[in-house]
Amino acid sequence: MNILVLGSGGREHALAWKLHQSQAVENLFVAPGNAGTAEFAENIPLAVSDFEAIREAVLSRKIDLVLVGPEVPLVMGIQDYFKSNPSLANIALIGPSKIGAQLEGSKEFAKKFMERHGIPTAAYRSFGVSDLEDAYRFLETIPPPYVLKADGLAAGKGVLILNEIETAKSELQEMLVEAKFGAASSRVVIEAFLSGIELSCFVLTDGKDYKILPTAKDYKRIGEGDTGLNTGGMGAISPVGFADAAFMEKVESRIIKPTVEGLKKENIPYTGFIFIGLIKVGDDPFVIEYNVRMGDPETEVVIPRIQTDLADLLKATANGTLKEIDLEIHKEAAATVMMVSGGYPEAYQKGYAIRGLDSVKEATVFHAGTQTDSNGAVVTSGGRVLAVTALGADFKECLRKAYKGVSEIQFQDAYYRTDIGFDL
Ligand code: AMP
Ligand code: GLY
Repeated sequence: MNILVLGSGGREHALAWKLHQSQAVENLFVAPGNAGTAEFAENIPLAVSDFEAIREAVLSRKIDLVLVGPEVPLVMGIQDYFKSNPSLANIALIGPSKIGAQLEGSKEFAKKFMERHGIPTAAYRSFGVSDLEDAYRFLETIPPPYVLKADGLAAGKGVLILNEIETAKSELQEMLVEAKFGAASSRVVIEAFLSGIELSCFVLTDGKDYKILPTAKDYKRIGEGDTGLNTGGMGAISPVGFADAAFMEKVESRIIKPTVEGLKKENIPYTGFIFIGLIKVGDDPFVIEYNVRMGDPETEVVIPRIQTDLADLLKATANGTLKEIDLEIHKEAAATVMMVSGGYPEAYQKGYAIRGLDSVKEATVFHAGTQTDSNGAVVTSGGRVLAVTALGADFKECLRKAYKGVSEIQFQDAYYRTDIGFDL
C-alpha cells in the first residue's frame, strides 16, 4: 500500500513514523512534511489546502490511502472533493466529510449536535452580530467567569475566558462587530464555565464501529506551572491517571457511543479520528470541544503507545471493518517535551541550525517545525520545533529520558518547559 500523510508537524511525523514500521506500507509520502519525515519518507512540497496539487500527487504516485493530519483541509471538504472526483473516488481518505468536520469547524454546530444526542456539555447560547444587545443581556444573567467562543476555526485562539462583565461585553463586541477573529467570530457561543480537570480522548471510527485510543493530557501554556500565553502545546503525557476504568466507562457510554451513533443516525459520513476535549467535573465527563483530527502534541505520546499496525487500522477504517481489529496498547507510559523557538507563541526567528539530534539515544525526536536547508543541514522553521518523546515504566522514567534527550539538542534561543508532568 502507498500512503500519503498530509501535514508538516510533530503529529504528522509521529503518524508517518508509525506507518513506516508497517510491513503493509510500500511507499510512504508526506506533504509537505519536514526534515524529520524526509529521513524515511518522500516529502512532496505542496500546501495542504491545495486540493488540485494533492490530486496530482495522489495519481502520479499511485497512492492508495491519504491520512489527513490537520483540520483545515477537512473543514474545507477534502473528503467530499475525493468522493466527487471520479479519478479519486476509489482512494481511501482518512478524515470526515465536510459536514462531519463541522464538529470542529463550528462550535455552534457541535453544540447543537450534542444537544440533539443528549451528550453532556456546558449550557450555552449562540449569537450573531444582529443579536449583540441580546447577548449583553444574556451575559448579565449568568455568573462569571464568562466563556466566549468564536464559532469558526481560529487556530486555537478563539476561546476567551473573562472574569469581568465589562471586559466580556467589550470582547464580545470586538468578536462580533469588529471581527476580532475574522469570519470565525461572526457568530459567538457563550457557555457556562465548567470547573474541573481536563483530558483528551481519541477515537478512531469507520462510521459504524470505533476504537478508543489512549488518553492524553497536553500542557498548553508557555510558562512553568501552566502560566502565560496559550500555545499549540508544550508537552503531553499518556495515559491520564484519573481517567480510570469507571470514568472511561462513563466517557464511552455518555459521549463516545452517542457521538458515533449520532453521526450515523444523521447520515454524516465519518471515517477518521475524533478528538474529544473533556473536562471531569466531580466524577462526570463533559465535552469541552470536538476536533476532527488527532491532537498535536498528543499524537506524539498516543501513537508510540499503540502496538497494533497503524496501516492495518487505517485500512480497516476505510473499509468499514474496524470491528475485526484488535487494538493493542503498550503498558508503558509516554511523555513528550516540546522544544520551541525563543519568542513563541509571539514573534520568533527561524533558520537556526539544530545540533545534537544524533546524540539522542533513549528518546524519539519528532520534528514539528524543521526544514533541510540548501546545505543539507536541519534548521528551525516554526514556533514548535521538536517534540522529544520517551516511553517508560512510569512517568518518572519517561520524563527522565525525554529531558535527557532535550539536553542533548541545541539551537539558538531554544526554549522548553522543565515541568512537564509536574502535576502527576
Ligand atoms: P477549546 O478551544 O474549546 O478547547 O477551549 C480552549 C480551552 O478553554 C479549553 O481547553 C479549556 O481549558 C477552556 N474552556 C473551554 N470551554 C470551557 C468551559 N465551558 N468551561 C471552562 N473552561 C473552558
Ligand atoms: N493540542 C491541542 C490540539 O491539537 O488542538
